[in-house]
Amino acid sequence: MKFFVDTANIDEIRKADGWGVVDGVTTNPTLIGREGKEFEPTVKAICELMGDRPVSAEVVSTEAEGMLAEARVLAGWAGNIVVKIPMCKEGMKAVKILSQEGIKTNVTLTFSAGQGLIAAKAGATYCSPFVGRIDDAGSDGMVLVKQLCDIYSAYGYPTQIIVASVRQPGHVIQAACWGAHVATVPFKVLDNMFSHPLTDIGMERFLADWNKLQEELGKA
Ligand code: E4P
Repeated sequence: MKFFVDTANIDEIRKADGWGVVDGVTTNPTLIGREGKEFEPTVKAICELMGDRPVSAEVVSTEAEGMLAEARVLAGWAGNIVVKIPMCKEGMKAVKILSQEGIKTNVTLTFSAGQGLIAAKAGATYCSPFVGRIDDAGSDGMVLVKQLCDIYSAYGYPTQIIVASVRQPGHVIQAACWGAHVATVPFKVLDNMFSHPLTDIGMERFLADWNKLQEELGKA
């Protein structure tokens, strides 16, 4: 399973990358806005940091023509750009054309299996079901991930599922059990995934026992 880090914060990306498990980055206008910096230099800096690993950057136009224009500019900024396009009719028109042009796309704001099926038919490189927002609305977002895994695998669609709007490690684990290709994970959730209280207790005990032995052997 690939892990993308879901942030536009360069320090977080650099730190998470140092842990050796980051396969890419996703951003959205909210995450970019949170940083309070210009869009273009922020995205370019993230792309540079990621090398050839994918970086999703989102269009803000609502008509296919505007989305296409934005997408072509974004794709010109770096070779690892993935253009994020919202799930809607205009968006899917744009995705179809971009896929024919060889520009990678990530269909965002996917909340139903029907939408995910349409994204795959349009030729999306990635499709992002928003599990946390579905949970927030009182349903089970992971049901959608399972449906998309089944549908894409049944028909051999090459579209990769990015489990998005992740709120906790359980979302990632369940998605991994079902074979989702990617989880895009907020920095804090990724950080949490490294930890377990029994690991901390075990490390303390091993170290204490080691130090005790050194003392006994007169080495300490
Ligand atoms: C990533 O591609 C999405 O934009 C992001 O995961 C949305 O997360 P949120 O629902 O926490 O805003």
